[in-house]
Amino acid sequence: SSAPPVVPSASTLSALQEATRDLLDRQLPIALPTETVYGLAANALHAPSVARIFSTKGRPADNPLIVHVSSLPMLRSLLPAAFVMPPEYEKLIAAFWPGPLTMLFPKSDVIPPICTAGQPTVAVRMPSHPIARALIALSNTPLAAPSANSSGKPSPTKAIHVLHDLRGKIPLILDGGACEVGVESTVVDGLSQEGVVKVLRPGGVTVEELQRVLGEGTKVLVHKRDYEDSEIESAPTTPGMKYRHYSPTVPVVLLLTSPPPAGRKLESVHDILDELHASISPQDEFKVGLLSLSDSDITKACIATHYEVQRFSLGKRSSPAEAAQRLFDGLLTLDGEGVEVILVEGVEEVKEGLAVMNRVRKAAGEVRYVSV
Ligand code: TXA
Ligand code: MG
Repeated sequence: SSAPPVVPSASTLSALQEATRDLLDRQLPIALPTETVYGLAANALHAPSVARIFSTKGRPADNPLIVHVSSLPMLRSLLPAAFVMPPEYEKLIAAFWPGPLTMLFPKSDVIPPICTAGQPTVAVRMPSHPIARALIALSNTPLAAPSANSSGKPSPTKAIHVLHDLRGKIPLILDGGACEVGVESTVVDGLSQEGVVKVLRPGGVTVEELQRVLGEGTKVLVHKRDYEDSEIESAPTTPGMKYRHYSPTVPVVLLLTSPPPAGRKLESVHDILDELHASISPQDEFKVGLLSLSDSDITKACIATHYEVQRFSLGKRSSPAEAAQRLFDGLLTLDGEGVEVILVEGVEEVKEGLAVMNRVRKAAGEVRYVSV
């Protein structure tokens, strides 16, 4: 419509051109910012380029990648000519693209099997970050991009996190600042059942938003909450099902204030810390990382102990989007500050809180129930 054209600065343009040469001429993966997390991007149509994503990350070959596009014609170029867009997908594209929503499509032969780990479907999203969109458009190439971290580590939401993890392994990191969303895209499958959209991975687009846009006529089902899928559970087509995920180098403990299930006890924060101290490093001074909501009872209880607490805020309880934005940054930042354990306060599983708790449960080696 009347939006003015956005012209990149000379330095941004030259960085994008260098990235394009790395991707297309040198056939190497590079790191780029998206609105969700930083991605490790390579030419999705070229099998050896895609193979380098897997080797750079140490990613298991059976975990498929998301392909990023900058336009609807580019999406079409990846799909069988006969594919008819389901009405649910029309609505989702209109509402959420460009943005943090990934959808499964039937794949055509232009996508090499390594990209989809042999699946007949390809996961596609159109990112909204201007650097990601500009790079895809400038290179005129769909880019396969998982999160730009070594497999098993938290996803990077700042260029500095990528540098710490992948220094020496990639030729270029495009720095686009801190990611706004902070957790990965929502992955949905609207192909497998008519009138149903399955959420394979909760993410930046909330289940509440999906349901609002799709309307009463479509069922939105969340994996593990609303349905089980033995095929997904045995094949790792959804992150965290089979492999260790989102784990910093130090142990992560999830603290919940909800009533414990049968067989689990309620404990004070102080007793939990004494026990962790004894089991993790009894000899040393014990520095505790705390990722918690501002002014929460858990925060107060931790600070009141005699332990040295390094805090990183998940923001206000009323703002799950803020917790999502800060989660991976908090895990990676605390991990880099020499703490011996990271305690994470659970948040309510509504809106972006669903994606936050999905990641925290996978990062955490154990759950403790706290009396405050
Ligand atoms: O926000 C994001 O999605 C980020 C940024 C970089 O765009 N990317 C990202 O990629 O999170 P990754 O590889 O960390 O997670 C992609 C997940 C895979 O683990 C897989 O579970 C799912 O998407 N996926 C990809 N292709 C699939 C397929 N054909 N069927 C089912 N799940 C698929
Ligand atoms: Mg990942």
